[in-house]
Formats: sequence, structure tokens, C-alpha cells
Amino acid sequence: MGTKRALITGVTGQDGAYLSKLLLDQGYEVHGLLRRSASADVIDARLKWIGVAGKITLHDGNLTDLSGLIRVIQEVRPHEVYNLAAQSFVKSSWQQPLLTGNVTGMGAANMLEAVRIAAPESRFYQASSSEMYGLIQEPIQSETTPFYPRSPYAAAKLYAHWMTVNYRESFGFHASSGILFNHESPLRGIEFVTRKITDGVARIKLGMQDKLALGNLDATRDWGHARDYVKAMWLMLQQDTPDDYVVATGRTTPVREFCELAFAHVGLKMENHVVVDERYLRPAEVDVLHGNPAKAKQKLGWVAETSLEQLVAEMVEADLVRLKRQEHL
Ligand code: NAP
Ligand code: GDD
Repeated sequence: MGTKRALITGVTGQDGAYLSKLLLDQGYEVHGLLRRSASADVIDARLKWIGVAGKITLHDGNLTDLSGLIRVIQEVRPHEVYNLAAQSFVKSSWQQPLLTGNVTGMGAANMLEAVRIAAPESRFYQASSSEMYGLIQEPIQSETTPFYPRSPYAAAKLYAHWMTVNYRESFGFHASSGILFNHESPLRGIEFVTRKITDGVARIKLGMQDKLALGNLDATRDWGHARDYVKAMWLMLQQDTPDDYVVATGRTTPVREFCELAFAHVGLKMENHVVVDERYLRPAEVDVLHGNPAKAKQKLGWVAETSLEQLVAEMVEADLVRLKRQEHL
């Protein structure tokens, strides 16, 4: 086979940037779906940060617009399709439940249909989520743990997940679903708790603010690095047989401890700066997520390479640099 072509939806997001870099480094021709925005100057900020802007062919499109998706797929003729686009912020999904359903749930069905119509031989990756475990039914979650979604986002992801399984079983699609636990990086959106913390810590260290308002400090997550997790996505599509995999570190940590680590990295104490604000609490909480990545290790040879301590340090350092240079992301 000549050069492999990949199409990434959500290419402007955190994972889209890391996956683009991984695929370009392996010699892929990378195409991305670009949602039209009036703020053209910021749309490829992450791709610039990671050094791949200009190396990717961007195509106008939206996950809610099936005919546009079919056209893009007809044009690109991808060997691999990575469906990463979503309304991905859980808290917003209570404010915009129908939009979240349309984009995060039905959008995946649109992508599956576009592939079925225009490129049924391509391999398909669906960005499923540990949020689908919600009110956890087992203390450590694996591929066989029952789901119990706790947000409109999780309900939408569950629909997308089962549609991916169904297209595999109905039409013989090479469609795999990665049940990824939380993964972070300097490219994480500012509204997510880890980045909110590292940005806040950097601002406090630089004397730009004194307090950081957070919500539930007792929530516990299995946090890894996005750079490691996109490798698992790619590995899934290189297997002869499609399947579903949990991708996690196997270590879970409370928000409070993440926060302590981030403040300690710059020689500060969180109790002097963190205040709890009810506005950041959720109508229904996912108290704890803790993944078992044994299947990914055994079948894909994948393991998380970055420790939580390394992740925190990298994020805080990146935010310090960004704020000193007055860069926005
Ligand atoms: P992200 O940074 O929020 O990126 C989301 C991407 O989706 C952005 O490129 C966004 O475009 C795009 N998008 C949103 N609505 C769209 C629409 N209607 N049509 C086309 N594109 C649209 O998310 P991420 O952290 O990279 O996560 C990637 C995927 O993995 C998401 O599906 C997320 O739900 C899932 N996931 C993430 C994690 C995690 O911990 N990060 C864990 C499990 C699963 P704009 O740039 O225009 O907004
Ligand atoms: N965002 C945010 N802001 N979360 C806070 C805050 C705060 O000020 N204070 C406490 N938290 C708690 C939330 O209540 C939640 O329990 C936890 O921190 C993590 O919140 P987020 O970082 O917003 O991520 P998430 O776990 O809800 O969702 C992320 O991970 C999912 C995978 O499990 C997103 O990336 C989803 O798209 C992804 O599917």
C-alpha cells in the first residue's frame, strides 16, 4: 500500500492535535474535519502549538451535517477514520442536552453512515469514554463492567458506543471503540479540572490572581497523558480484528491530590488559595473512575508511559511559559 490516509474529526481538539502528530510522524497523509468558526485566528491554536499546522489538510464540515460528511469522505478516501469530535465537556451537557445528543451521539451515527455509504472498507475508531461507567457498578472498570451513565454527555456517548459495536456486528465494519479514561496535557481545554488547576497555579505563582475556585474536590479520576492515549487509538486500528478496549493507567487520584501536587510543584500550598464554589458542582456526579487496562496491555502491547507527577509538572510548566509569553490557549 502507498501512503496511508487518515481522517480525524475533532482535529482541533486536544486528542486531535496529539493524534495528528503521531500519524504525521509515521508518514500518514492526515486530513481533518474543521467546524466553521468566526474566530479563524484561534481555530488551529493546538495544531500550531504541537507543530503540525500546515501539514494537515482541513475540510469544512460538521458532525451534524451528513451530506457534508459523505462529501469529505468521498474526497479523502481515508484508510482510517478517527471520530474524536464531540461536545466533550460533561458539565455543559446539562445546559445543552439536545445539542450534546446531536453532536456526541447522533454525530457518531452520521460518521458511521458516511463511512458505510462512501468508504465501507475504512477502519473506524470511536472515542468512547469512561464517563459511560458513571455510577460505577464495579470498583475497577474493565470492558465487561456494565455501564450506568450519569450525564447527558455519557448517555450520548453510550449511544455512539453501541452504534459502533452494532455497525461492526451488522456490516462487518472494522470499527473499534476505545473506552478512554480521563487524559490530560498542556493542550487540555481550560474548563476541565486539571488544566483549570494548572493554569490557576501558574497565575497565582506569577502574582496574577490569589484564589482558585473549584467544585467537588473529592471526585477521583484515573488520569493519564493524551500523548500516550492516542497511541492506543492507532494501535486498535492496526489489529486484524476490531474490538473494544479500556485505556487507563490503573491508578486513581482525588481532585484534591492533583491540586496539592500542582501547588507543590511551584512551592505553594493549596489550602492558602483554593476555595470551593457550588457553581462548579454537578446535578449528578461521577464520584470515582478507576480503569483496568489489562486487555490493552495484553492485546495491543499498550501501557501508559507518563506518571501523574510527570503530567502535573508538564502542565504547570507549560502554563507558566504560556502566561509569561501572554499566549492564549
Ligand atoms: P476536545 O478537546 O473538547 O475536542 C473536541 C473536538 O470536537 C474539537 O475539535 C471540536 O471542534 C470538535 N467538535 C465539537 N463539535 C463539533 C461538531 N458539531 N462538528 C465537528 N466537530 C466538532 O476533546 P478531547 O479531549 O480532544 O477528546 C476527544 C474525544 O474523546 C471526544 O469525543 C471526547 O468526548 C472523547 N473522550 C475524551 C476523554 C478525555 O479525557 N480527554 C476521555 C474519553 C473520551 P472546535 O475546535 O471547533 O470546538
Ligand atoms: N471541570 C471542573 N471544574 N471539574 C471540577 C471542578 C471544576 O472547577 N472541581 C471539581 N471538579 C470535578 C468534577 O466534578 C469531576 O468529578 C472531576 O473534577 C473531573 O471533571 P472534568 O475535568 O470536567 O472531567 P470529566 O471527568 O467530567 O470528563 C472528562 O473525562 C471524561 C472521561 O472520563 C472529559 O474529558 C470527558 O469528555 C471524558 O469523556
